[in-house]
Amino acid sequence: MAQLWGGRFTKETDKKVYDFNASINFDKRLMERDCEGSVAHAAMLAKCGIITKEESTKIIDGLVAVKNDVLEGKLEITDAYEDIHSFMEAKLIERIGDTGKKLHTGRSRNDQVALDMKLYTRLEVLYVDAAVKKLLGTILDIMTENTDTYMPGFTHLQKAQPVTLAHHLGAYFEMFKRDRDRLKDIFHRMNYCPLGAGALAGTTYPLDRDMTASLMGFYGPTLNSMDSVSDRDYLIEFLAALSIISMHLSRFCEEIIVWNTNEYRFIELDDAFSTGSSIMPQKKNPDIAELVRGKTGRVYGALMSLLTTMKGLPLAYNKDMQEDKEVSFDAIDTVKTCLDLFEGMLATTKFNKDNMAKSAVNGFTNATDAADYLVKKGMPFRDAHKVIGELVLYCIDEGISIDDCSLTKLKEFSELFDADVYDEISLKTCVSKRLTIGAPGMEAMKKIIAVSRDYLEHDWQDSEFE
Ligand code: ARG
Repeated sequence: MAQLWGGRFTKETDKKVYDFNASINFDKRLMERDCEGSVAHAAMLAKCGIITKEESTKIIDGLVAVKNDVLEGKLEITDAYEDIHSFMEAKLIERIGDTGKKLHTGRSRNDQVALDMKLYTRLEVLYVDAAVKKLLGTILDIMTENTDTYMPGFTHLQKAQPVTLAHHLGAYFEMFKRDRDRLKDIFHRMNYCPLGAGALAGTTYPLDRDMTASLMGFYGPTLNSMDSVSDRDYLIEFLAALSIISMHLSRFCEEIIVWNTNEYRFIELDDAFSTGSSIMPQKKNPDIAELVRGKTGRVYGALMSLLTTMKGLPLAYNKDMQEDKEVSFDAIDTVKTCLDLFEGMLATTKFNKDNMAKSAVNGFTNATDAADYLVKKGMPFRDAHKVIGELVLYCIDEGISIDDCSLTKLKEFSELFDADVYDEISLKTCVSKRLTIGAPGMEAMKKIIAVSRDYLEHDWQDSEFE
């Protein structure tokens, strides 16, 4: 039980208390970020004349050596230390001796952990953004191939009007694009450095906070030391963004599960992304889609957990805030895995174009267009709605679609029907006439695909780090 304090205490910490208090088992994943922060701090201490240049170099070399030893498996992070900060400091002192004891000058674990967590989260925001971007690329490729793959569009999960696969997937393109916008916003809002805030009230050493901020790629230092050590907004925002990504993935999974049923047969999942049953030989289950849908719950859970942890905390640091880590790490890992697997599943899915088109024809998705046809021939819309309603009822009884009715039969419902009706209500015509911005008509769709392609080619991360 190596500890950073002792002077004020006359008794050893109870073992159970020590274990309950410790965070090393999960904050060890901050190791590289802790090293990065300490290196910047040591460089700044020398520049400000608080330690010598030689001491600073010795500390920095020592920290990097400790980090490399851990990465190479030569040094194990064990629970003999309370947290990653104590571990790194202890190992530094073991390695370079008393000079190592100067590293913590003008710093507290409160600004240290605030920094480590921010550095960690900042990177993860970029990783998640890149994973969403990859998914967007896959979606756009499928869209490009399928501007004339007809399928029913649904409301209330009832067939409504014909759309195309490109159009349907285009909806998800917009959702995930907004997700990336949220991540970009979060990055811009969070990218300020808390180091130098000390325990809560800054420090009396003449630290150069601008220097450490810019060394670590922050836009600048945070502006209130109490807020610096107690702010976890950025993490909550990130968990909210992850929750929304999960919600989008989950909706998409739900559709994939439905489309994969025997009743729909819109898609065929690749064998590599499906599972079988231990008892029913005929089964090919969409477990991956179900798991991604299911894991949404734990991501929402992380958001609720941290919001609740933070809600009653007085300023500034409180140990409750250590609870930010496990749930956040889990949510971040979960969403990254889900994005990756989902992208692989989607990229390998086969779309049964014939079944999709048949489903659109059989579902009276051209009923609105049939009514519009009568309107064009002079009938008021409300009357046309009624005529087509009766016609649909007849077709349901006969087990046919409107397109299957002979002209003589159609004329029994309205004299206004002519031979041109078949072309006017064909799936192709119904879709191709829908040409307003954002509609499924091929020409409209192709414009959106071009805009989307252009969007993917101009990455905010490229302009951020050029
Ligand atoms: N393990 C702690 C955390 O995650 C580090 C900060 C400790 N600070 C303190 N005053 N006990 O929040």
